[in-house]
Amino acid sequence: MILTNEFYTDQKVLDFEKEIFKKESWILVAHISELQNNNDFISINFFEEKIFIQNFNGKIKCFQNICLHRFNTIHEEDCGNRVASCLYHYWVYNKEGKVSGLPCRSSFNKGKIEELKLYEYEVDFCGNFIFVKLKENNSTTLKEYLGTMYQKLNSFSYFLGSKTIDYNIVHKGNWKLLLENVLECYHCTSVHVNSFAKLGYGFEKPKKFDFFQGHSWCEFPKRQDVKENKRIKKILDSRTCKIEGYIHFYIYPNVFISSVEGKGFYFGFLLPQSASKTTLRVRYFSPIMGSNLTDSESNILDFINSSSIDSLDLVLNEDKKMIENVQSNLNNVNSSTPIFGEEEFRINNFYNFFTPKFEQYEKSL
Ligand code: FES
Ligand SMILES: [Fe+2]
Repeated sequence: MILTNEFYTDQKVLDFEKEIFKKESWILVAHISELQNNNDFISINFFEEKIFIQNFNGKIKCFQNICLHRFNTIHEEDCGNRVASCLYHYWVYNKEGKVSGLPCRSSFNKGKIEELKLYEYEVDFCGNFIFVKLKENNSTTLKEYLGTMYQKLNSFSYFLGSKTIDYNIVHKGNWKLLLENVLECYHCTSVHVNSFAKLGYGFEKPKKFDFFQGHSWCEFPKRQDVKENKRIKKILDSRTCKIEGYIHFYIYPNVFISSVEGKGFYFGFLLPQSASKTTLRVRYFSPIMGSNLTDSESNILDFINSSSIDSLDLVLNEDKKMIENVQSNLNNVNSSTPIFGEEEFRINNFYNFFTPKFEQYEKSL
């Protein structure tokens, strides 16, 4: 069954994957810059796990995003700034997840209300990246979970400035097709001939990479003959992240972080909706600059940021078309399996880690 079409189309496979992730994963949920102010929050729906992460007077906490009164969603927006209150009957929750206020309090049993507490998830940090542990009795620490990736990710987290976009793109495709797509740049010179390849990427093989279990990172060199405008180059010289290529992290199971030369930072979150539908949550962060810029340099930096966002959108839509084509063709390929070459080595690495987990599933069939 592995890698045949059911692997990408069968709801039972997705349910099994959900169980695997819930049992063993720490999920990267946010960057600290998104939760700088009191009451800043981010909400995420990973499979059916509805959670929100919020700054409660400087303390970052994570709770189930479901009100204890009559189960409305507490934060409906993906991000924002407001107290953790449910807008159905206005119950308000504090940093312990307890009910700190509600209208007509005396009409409820006082003791019962005091006992209530939202389900809380453990939060931990890798530098400025915020992770949440999905299952309470998973004894793996975040450091153990990230292994050799921890240090690299930790240093990288300090380069990200403020968030500039946060939106969703729905793909009619299985989450693993979106993942396969970002784990290789073999398609860059064909699919992204007018976007990413123009920046000089996809022509040379990556020289630096590492793996740890399902996670991996990889750096792609830029083609030498693509030169930057001198004025832009001067401004970018003061950015804190001075990588010269395109760097891409995959944090198992569902997050990518990438950057083109440290000019800006992309977060991609895979949020599976069904076996053949995946929401990609897209966030982009500006770079932290090491020195103060003049007004005109800041304007140019804003321009660089907005053109990076436009290029990202173009690239994501170019990929989406291919992913949706593949998904729609799966029912016609019966038991054939995809073929991965050397350029697609990160995909092979991922499946070497991931597919053995399916032995138990196959036995149960
Ligand atoms: S359901 Fe949340 S306050 Fe009533
Ligand atoms: Fe792509």
